[in-house]
Amino acid sequence: MQADGSIAASVDGYFVNLGHLSPAAMDRARSLTDGLPLASFAGKSAIAREVDVLAHRLARHGLVEYRLSFPRDEGDLVVIEPQGPEYWPQRAKLGESDTIVLSRFTYLRRRGNEMVLESPRAGALFRIGDPAIAATLAALSRPHKISRLRRDAAAFNLDLLELLLDSRFLLKLNAKSGDGLRVNEGDGNLVLWDFHDLVFHTRSTEGRHADPVGSTFAYASVVSPPPAVRPPWPGKKIDLRKLPASDPISPFTKLLRERHSVRDFDDENPVTLAELARFLDTTARVLSEWKSDASFEGSAEITYSTRPYPSAGSAYELELYLAVSNCEGLARGLYHYDAGGHALVEIEVPAQQLQALSAAAEFAMDASGPPQILITISARFGRISWKYSSIAYSLILKNVGSLIQTFYLAATDMGLGGCAIGTGNIDLFARMTGLEFHVEGPVGQFALGRGKKPEAPR
Ligand SMILES: Cc1cc2nc3c(=O)[nH]c(=O)nc-3n(C[C@H](O)[C@H](O)[C@H](O)COP(=O)(O)O)c2cc1C
Repeated sequence: MQADGSIAASVDGYFVNLGHLSPAAMDRARSLTDGLPLASFAGKSAIAREVDVLAHRLARHGLVEYRLSFPRDEGDLVVIEPQGPEYWPQRAKLGESDTIVLSRFTYLRRRGNEMVLESPRAGALFRIGDPAIAATLAALSRPHKISRLRRDAAAFNLDLLELLLDSRFLLKLNAKSGDGLRVNEGDGNLVLWDFHDLVFHTRSTEGRHADPVGSTFAYASVVSPPPAVRPPWPGKKIDLRKLPASDPISPFTKLLRERHSVRDFDDENPVTLAELARFLDTTARVLSEWKSDASFEGSAEITYSTRPYPSAGSAYELELYLAVSNCEGLARGLYHYDAGGHALVEIEVPAQQLQALSAAAEFAMDASGPPQILITISARFGRISWKYSSIAYSLILKNVGSLIQTFYLAATDMGLGGCAIGTGNIDLFARMTGLEFHVEGPVGQFALGRGKKPEAPR
């Protein structure tokens, strides 16, 4: 807090600017270090409104947590850690006759010396301070009426249950949802998700958790790096170098040797729409469509397609969304590639979101500017999990790998440049497209453009 009223937070060496406050609001805000009651944010006074704006800004950066404790009690019942910028504690109203049950995506685990309650569906994580809460949660593996829970539970706290319901750790059952098991959990798009797959999807991407992502070298000071090349096994060695290599090397081998990642693009000579069309035709266009007979009794006929890259079970669940920043003949914007019709279809999105998507890719590549075209590879999850249990998400990532290599080789062949990107924000994509994160979402990214000519050695 500075004398001129400006406030900034310092987090792991980064500065987050939090705006300005009047002297009176600054005074009130000082109490945030020890805690302010949530009710104090709801006030209509100018000070309350200023501090409310500040708290929302802090929440946006994951810099506030919310304590639930008994009045005058030192210990915390629960501390809520927001996992996304939009989280704000809300209670979803529960009455005595309502019936609740745990979501099958809720899990309790040890983190350091704490017990944390998490769910890939929740916008926040709950640190559990009282073991009796864990016992109540265990009881909620079966549906319970609030009135019965009030009577029987080891620790009954309606506020907590309402907070848990709001964050989807719990489900409220209605007459149709029966016992709240998989097919009647309240969201038909979750039926096909296995627990571990939804956790993996949300934890290995950005947007739905607050942990650091990417090359953080988290344990570099504890464990030394494994070698680049595995030391050979001690067994009998057959030296392949003595065998004749093809001479001259084949065009395909040459292409493989020439492939490399290109992160900086020539914005004076951007990729053209004609080149983009050829790139998509070569790599991702639907070549034919076919149907198979019902594979088991009662199943419907299944439709399939053939495309230039391999895909587990011929599922072809991957879709391409192109964030265009600089392409000759094509306006800036977000486009979906209709692989069946070989066409680009524009999706209207706010310029700010488009810029955020490209800027994140630029940051991930440590590049000098945004990629001319950023391809976000999304998955229609249900298309593959309809058939495969347990391995659905891993198959998706393997399919992404084969598509990315296809992109690299086609770009090299066309004299273009590209680079795979390992991070992606599933929440930003959901906001841009209006698609829920568990229906269709990003599983890979590839930057494409005309590479800058390498600088002459100085
Ligand atoms: C799955 C995957 C993710 C990658 N993620 C990034 C990334 O986020 N940022 C980046 O600059 N390069 C990324 N790369 C590119 C690698 O750094 C690059 O392939 C590697 O250094 C080998 O260099 P080369 O591609 O030029 O042969 C990624 C590559 C793959 C295959």
